[in-house]
Amino acid sequence: MNIVASDITSQSFDILIIGAGGAGLRAAIETRSRGLSTAVVCKSLFGKAHTVMAEGGIAASLGNVYPEDGWKVHFRDTMRGGKMLNNWRMAQLHAQEAPDRVLELEAWGALFDRTEDGRIHQRDFGGHKYARLAHVGDRTGLEMIRTLQYKAISMGIEVFMECKILRLLTDSSGNVCGAIGYWRPSGDLILFKAKAVILATGGIGKSWKYTSNSWESTGDGHALAFQVGADMIDMECVQFHPTGMVWPLSVRGLLVTEGVRGDGGVLRNSNNERFMFNYIPDMFRAETADTEEEADRWYADHSSARRTPDLLPRDEVARAINSEVKAGRGSPHGGVFLDIATRLTPDEIKRKLPSMYTQFLELAGVDITRQPMEVGPTCHYMMGGVRVDAETEAATVPGLFAAGEVAGGMHGANRLGGNSLSDLVVFGRRAGIGAADHAEGFSGTPEPEMGQALEAANEAMRPFNDENGESPYTLQADLQDCMQRLVGIIRTEAELRQALEKISELKDRLGRVSVNGGKQYNPSWNLATDLPSMLSLSEMVTRGALERKESRGGHTRDDYPQPDPELGKVNFVQRKRDGEHSIQPEPLLKMPDELKALFEDEH
Ligand code: FUM
Repeated sequence: MNIVASDITSQSFDILIIGAGGAGLRAAIETRSRGLSTAVVCKSLFGKAHTVMAEGGIAASLGNVYPEDGWKVHFRDTMRGGKMLNNWRMAQLHAQEAPDRVLELEAWGALFDRTEDGRIHQRDFGGHKYARLAHVGDRTGLEMIRTLQYKAISMGIEVFMECKILRLLTDSSGNVCGAIGYWRPSGDLILFKAKAVILATGGIGKSWKYTSNSWESTGDGHALAFQVGADMIDMECVQFHPTGMVWPLSVRGLLVTEGVRGDGGVLRNSNNERFMFNYIPDMFRAETADTEEEADRWYADHSSARRTPDLLPRDEVARAINSEVKAGRGSPHGGVFLDIATRLTPDEIKRKLPSMYTQFLELAGVDITRQPMEVGPTCHYMMGGVRVDAETEAATVPGLFAAGEVAGGMHGANRLGGNSLSDLVVFGRRAGIGAADHAEGFSGTPEPEMGQALEAANEAMRPFNDENGESPYTLQADLQDCMQRLVGIIRTEAELRQALEKISELKDRLGRVSVNGGKQYNPSWNLATDLPSMLSLSEMVTRGALERKESRGGHTRDDYPQPDPELGKVNFVQRKRDGEHSIQPEPLLKMPDELKALFEDEH
C-alpha cells in the first residue's frame, strides 16, 4: 500500500481540537463563542471520553459546606499535594477560577447533589483541607461531559468521531497548522488544516498493565507534541490511584472512587488494622488525626479538625497500601480492604455511591453494603506533559495549545483528587481563548507540509505490507508488563535501565509489526497505530524517572527514598530537536512573595 496525496481528503477550520473530553469541549465552547469554525476530533464515540471516569467530584472552593474555604486554601492544598513542583501560576488560576467554572456548569444544566438548604453539596477528598468537591453521586464526570456536550453542540461545533490522529503537521516556518489522521470505520485518511490546534487528549495509562484508564489513554497527545518539538515537563510524575479493583483479574485496575473514603470508607489490612495511622508523613502530621477515636470524631461531626489519614493525598495512601501488601498483610487477591458498610447504611451507600455499589455487585459479586471491597493501586493520571504558558495554554511550538491531562505543570508531582475536573474546565476555557486569539491574528491560510502528511500516512499503513510480522498485541502486552514491573509505583535505577533497554527493543520490533484484514474497523491495525505513542511516552516517563534521583509525590525511588531539596527546585524538561531526545533540569517559575507567605509555617 503506497499512499499518495490524492488518497487524502482535507478539511479546513479556524481551530482544530483533538480530544472531546472536558478540556476539549470547554475549549470548543470558547472558540465557538468567538465565531470561529471549530472541529473537535475524537478517537472514540462522542460522549465516551475518559472524563466520564472521574467519579468523585470537581474541586472548587465554593465554601458551601465550609464557609472558611477560599481560593488561597485550595491553592495551598494543591501546591502541597504536588510537593511544590507545580507551576504556581497555574495552581493559582485554577484555585481562583474553579468556583466560576462550577457555577457555569450548573447554569448550563449540570445537576449537582445539594446541601439541605439547597446549595451545591461538597464532598471531602484526600489532601483538601475542607470538603470542596461538587459532585453528582459518584458519576460527576458523566454529568460534566453530558452538560458540556449539549452546550458545545448547541453552539455549532463540528464533531469528527472515531477518528485517530497520527501526526501534527507544521508549515514551512514550523507553525503547527494541522493534523493527519484516519477514520476508524473506513481506514480512510483525513487531513485537517487549522490556524491553531488544541491538544486535549487526556492520559497515558494504557502503557501499564493495571490502570483505571480507558482504551483511548495511549498518550497520543503527549507523543504528538513531543514529535513536533514541544517541551515536555516532569514526565516521570505518574499517579497511581490508591484504590482500583484488584479482583476479578478481568477488571483489575478499574477505579474505586476516592469518594468512598470521602464519604467515610476505612482502609484495613488482613489483621483488620487501620494501617494508615502508621503512614502519616511529617508534612501532614499537624493536620492528621493520629488515633482511631480522633479520626472517628472528625468523620462524625468534625469536632476534631484533624482529618482521618485515610484521606491523605493519593501518593501517600498508594505507597502505604503497597507496603502493607509487600509485608504480607494484604487481602486474598493482593490488595487491602476498603470498608464503607460500617459507616453508612445500605440506603446511604446506594444513594451516595450508586456506581460503586453496582460495579462491585455485578463485576465481583461483592455487596458493598455488607462486605468490604478489595482495592489496590492502579495507574491513574499523568501529572507531566506539554509545557504550557499558564495564562494561554500555548505550548512552546507556535500554533499549538494543550489543556487537561496532556498539559504538564498544574499538579506538580502529585494531583489531588477532584482537581482534574476543575483543571479541565479552567484550562480548557483558557486554551480556547488562547487559541482563538492566535487564530484571529493569523494571516493567510494554513499550509501544512504535505510531505509530513504522506510520511505519517505511509508509516501508518506499513503493517499491511508485511503479512508475517509480529502481532501488535504481543508488543502491547510486553510494554505493559515492562512498565508495570519496572516503572511502577516504586522505582530503582537498575530497573529503570532495564526498562529503557526493553523499550528500545520494542521500538525495533515495532518496525516488524504486521496486521491482517482490511482497514475498516480493524482493532489490531488501530492498536498498531497507537503503539508509537505508547512507546514514545513510556520512554519519556522512564528517562525522566532516571534523572529525578529523589522521591517526590507520585515518583518514588527506592534508591533515593527522600526528597532532594535541590531537585525540588527544578522541572525536568524533555524535548526533541533534529531527532535528538534531550532531558535537562530547568528552574521552577519563581513564586511571588505574597503567595510564598501562605507556606510560611512550613520548612
Ligand atoms: O477517585 C475518583 O473519583 C477520581 C477522581 C479524580 O481522579 O479526580
